[in-house]
Amino acid sequence: MVVAYQQENDNQIHLCVTEKQYAELSGRSPVSLSDFEVILALCSAVLSCPGLQWNRPIDSLELFAGECSISSGEFRERREALAMDINFGPSNDIMTDAGFANTVFQILNTKPAGALWAAPVCSTWVYLSRGSTGRSASKPMGFNTGLTLQHNIMVARVCVILCIAVAKQIWWCLEQPKGSLLEGHILFQKVLAMRHVNVYRTCCSLGHFGADSLKPVWIYSSDTRATEFNEFADRSLRPSNPNMVRHYQDGSGKARVTGGTALKSSQAYPVKLLGPRFI
Ligand SMILES: C[S@@+](CC[C@H](N)C(=O)[O-])C[C@H]1O[C@@H](n2cnc3c(N)ncnc32)[C@H](O)[C@@H]1O
Repeated sequence: MVVAYQQENDNQIHLCVTEKQYAELSGRSPVSLSDFEVILALCSAVLSCPGLQWNRPIDSLELFAGECSISSGEFRERREALAMDINFGPSNDIMTDAGFANTVFQILNTKPAGALWAAPVCSTWVYLSRGSTGRSASKPMGFNTGLTLQHNIMVARVCVILCIAVAKQIWWCLEQPKGSLLEGHILFQKVLAMRHVNVYRTCCSLGHFGADSLKPVWIYSSDTRATEFNEFADRSLRPSNPNMVRHYQDGSGKARVTGGTALKSSQAYPVKLLGPRFI
């Protein structure tokens, strides 16, 4: 459940993901709002914020942009795109109140029927980290601590952004490595179950678009356009970077696998992927 609370003195809406977290942060018992009331309160807070520029709406928004491949494709097509990533500054950090408010502003400032691409951090959702996150198909939210909790909140915030995108008829795509348990997040499940929302999941392999490893990804899309991405795939490509994973034996001689030196770099989309075809 998403809960929100308003500080008595600063007139800001803060968003949490569980009542327990709310109680920890505020030291008060939670004022529980329904998910829709939270979204309403957030939009209304941002829309009434003085000084925001609404006169230059954007065509597309890329969240967790990294190398900005999607936005670069948009620019090449002469569309107004905005890329957000924590690496571009604190105002881009979706985990802070200010960064999240900024993200809500940017989706509100995206043209109706525009586009949204989001690739939330996947490290705690993937198979490799299941031992430390406690996530499984039957318990996708995992442990309510540390990075696992942080990523649960991150995805809750992404779901709020998706709901606003749905209301504005923005075509949204959410990307995760194939097998990610993010699909089981309680709020993402609510998004998938929303009436009048059809979500399509397409599997693309980044290696078929020029990446140096095959890396299959799932793209959840609010319409069928993402199913067409594979029309541009070159399945004759068989890339395999040997440094994606490292196999080793632990102290007791048990075979183990962990991320290799090239794993991090595999998150960037190959230039040939999606960009020019995004809208
Ligand atoms: C899975 S990668 C996405 C990579 C991207 N698709 C690309 O082509 O480079 C996740 C991105 O989320 C960013 N990120 C991590 N924490 C964030 C936060 N709190 N707010 C915004 N972005 C964040 C990271 O810097 C990273 O670039």
